[in-house]
Amino acid sequence: MKLYDVHTDGTDSALSYASLLEKIEIMRSSLRWTNKMERPELQKMLHQCNALRDEVMQLSHKERLLKASAEAAAIPPKKQSSKSRKQALLKRNFIFEGVFGESAKLLEALEIAEKAAPTTLPVLINGESGTGKELMAKVIHNNGSRADKPYVSVNCGAIPDNLLESELFGHKRGAFTGATSDRKGKFESADGGTIFLDEIGELPLQGQVKLLRVLQSNELQRVGSDQVTYVDTRIVAATNRDLLDMSQKGLFREDLYYRLSVINVTLPPLRERRDEISLLFDYFSGEAAGQLSRPPVQLTPRLRTFLDHYDYPGNVRELRNIIYRISCLASSGKADIEHLPETIRPGLKKPTQHASDSAGPENEQVSLLDRPLADVKKEAAAAAEKLYLEQGLIEEAGKVVKLARRINMNRSHVWTLLKKHELDVNDYKKEVPKP
Ligand SMILES: Nc1ncnc2c1ncn2[C@@H]1O[C@H](COP(=O)(O)OP(=O)(O)OP(=O)(O)O)[C@@H](O)[C@H]1O
Ligand SMILES: [Mg+2]
Repeated sequence: MKLYDVHTDGTDSALSYASLLEKIEIMRSSLRWTNKMERPELQKMLHQCNALRDEVMQLSHKERLLKASAEAAAIPPKKQSSKSRKQALLKRNFIFEGVFGESAKLLEALEIAEKAAPTTLPVLINGESGTGKELMAKVIHNNGSRADKPYVSVNCGAIPDNLLESELFGHKRGAFTGATSDRKGKFESADGGTIFLDEIGELPLQGQVKLLRVLQSNELQRVGSDQVTYVDTRIVAATNRDLLDMSQKGLFREDLYYRLSVINVTLPPLRERRDEISLLFDYFSGEAAGQLSRPPVQLTPRLRTFLDHYDYPGNVRELRNIIYRISCLASSGKADIEHLPETIRPGLKKPTQHASDSAGPENEQVSLLDRPLADVKKEAAAAAEKLYLEQGLIEEAGKVVKLARRINMNRSHVWTLLKKHELDVNDYKKEVPKP
């Protein structure tokens, strides 16, 4: 009688239903062709049954495990509301340093900062100008164990290239003209605390090498000195540039980029967290009112609409400046469009591409309202007509006959209009691939 070999030590790795079925089939055929079964054979069969049962159990266990993990992966983690996330930070005595707002993206940045703060890991803060990078650096310093130690901020973009190294790492007397005495740099001044390297993308390559050494071994050499100094300075850097892209262009050391960005905090532009504009407005208008000793400024509905939809290329800084400006200029306490800075005041920008085409450069700064409505209407109608024809030529691949039929217009009239708008049908004809 053929009995299959049972791996009683559990080494049968190819656990699968197919192999189980095969084993069951062998047992069935063994039983079918057996006339008489002796005790030892019975025992062996029993043993095989037990082994099979164990395998089934194992397989079902494994399946349940896989199913459970697949289900867990499919369920998104329970989303906490922004309010409760902010409350939780407050409860944990998180120091906000004046960072205001509760959009999901901002809270994510704050939560990362909270986790990074107690460590000495380098942090790289990314964000457009005015998004609060400097504030965030202070948040990281003040929530960590170095809060009572020095916090030194260096703007790498504001120091001339030839002085930057000495500013950061110090110099030895006589190292260069004007170095009349030994001087310690910002790194040594921040020993035990935090150095904030703002606009890190502006650091020249030579300085990048020195910074890499500090990151790797906490060692630096003052300019003109052979002596190695040990510093324990935590590095927080910030930039509004794409360092990875810069490193691909050879402008920033890639190894330094990876060292600096062990923890990355990204601050979203204000236009990506519009829901915060009205909150920030109330916050800053209260602040401005306090400073100007007057009640918070009121807005006309059209100014409110403008502020809610404006793009804020200067981000929170720009919003804050606008609020201070209108709080100061609105003498009656009610601010309107006219109180906005001229450069962003609606009506002063080019109204539309087409309508301004004929305006000439000397008219660029003229408000739309300074011109007769009839003229503006005429220009807008002409622009719409041109757009309509261009779209038609695109869709009909420059074929005037088809276009005229489609828009139900006399063919010669279409030609007249094309001539009027200086549209060349050849520009819209599809190129026939050469054989
Ligand atoms: N979330 C915020 N809450 C309150 N104030 C903010 C916030 N973000 C930025 N600010 C304010 O906006 C201004 C600009 O902030 P900060 O200097 O930190 O920006 P930045 O990203 O460093 O800008 P830049 O790249 O131009 O140096 C400051 O007055 C700051 O107080
Ligand atoms: Mg800054």
